[in-house]
Amino acid sequence: MATPTLDKLDAFEADSASSHLISVTFRIRRFNPEVAADAEWQDFRIDIDPKERVLDALHKIKWDVDGSLTFRRSCAHGICGSDAMRINGKNRLACKTLIKDINPEKPITVEAIKGLTVLKDLVVDMEPFFQAYRDVMPFLITNGNEPTRERLQTAEDRERFDDTTKCILCAACTSSCPVFWNDGQYFGPAAIVNAHRFIFDSRDEAGEQRLEILNDKDGVWRCRTTFNCTDACPRGIEVTKAIQEVKRALITRRF
Ligand code: SF4
Ligand code: FES
Repeated sequence: MATPTLDKLDAFEADSASSHLISVTFRIRRFNPEVAADAEWQDFRIDIDPKERVLDALHKIKWDVDGSLTFRRSCAHGICGSDAMRINGKNRLACKTLIKDINPEKPITVEAIKGLTVLKDLVVDMEPFFQAYRDVMPFLITNGNEPTRERLQTAEDRERFDDTTKCILCAACTSSCPVFWNDGQYFGPAAIVNAHRFIFDSRDEAGEQRLEILNDKDGVWRCRTTFNCTDACPRGIEVTKAIQEVKRALITRRF
């Protein structure tokens, strides 16, 4: 049998790669305050493998079609939390969303998360979100002298806050919360999740302080238990349950 030439192999590989491609329209909400006062939708039709992720499509558009398209991303693997956006009306991480899973036969809408000021295209001002996070003191606080050995904890004690250690601060929960959309003053689910992580840590000694911070008029009592936050969390954290546990700790003072 004749050996295929390199040109033929290249052509074969190009053919088989392109046979996986489908044509998909991405309808992206664009905003550039230097150009126009209002945001508007813009369609981009590209050929892409449906097994690729929405982040890959955004890269393709930015690199091949319109370099001005602006979005955040870093790890591309669901760890850094920087690419939360509204995709087909639901908060998701672009790097964890496969195109084939969100009906690519219709235009796929992509817009910035809600409740935070849009700076450009898909980039929002995260400062109010991080300020709420800082306000709950998301670090271990202890009194007295440093111990001479590590602070021990039972497996059961560790289990109490295991779920809330998984947070990657993507803001998908907080920006899906209707209470947060209203005025942006509410601490929001992510801050409460991160307070929970320390309130229920048996080694921490500032639980009371954190509870008092969340007892504020903009604290946990504003939660209306809509479960949007739990549905939105890409890490599968039971956000609403964590909020309920903090509310219960405020009433019983047991944690
Ligand atoms: S709780 Fe989930 S949705 Fe909220 S910031 Fe953390 S990882 Fe994101
Ligand atoms: S880019 Fe890091 S979580 Fe998606």
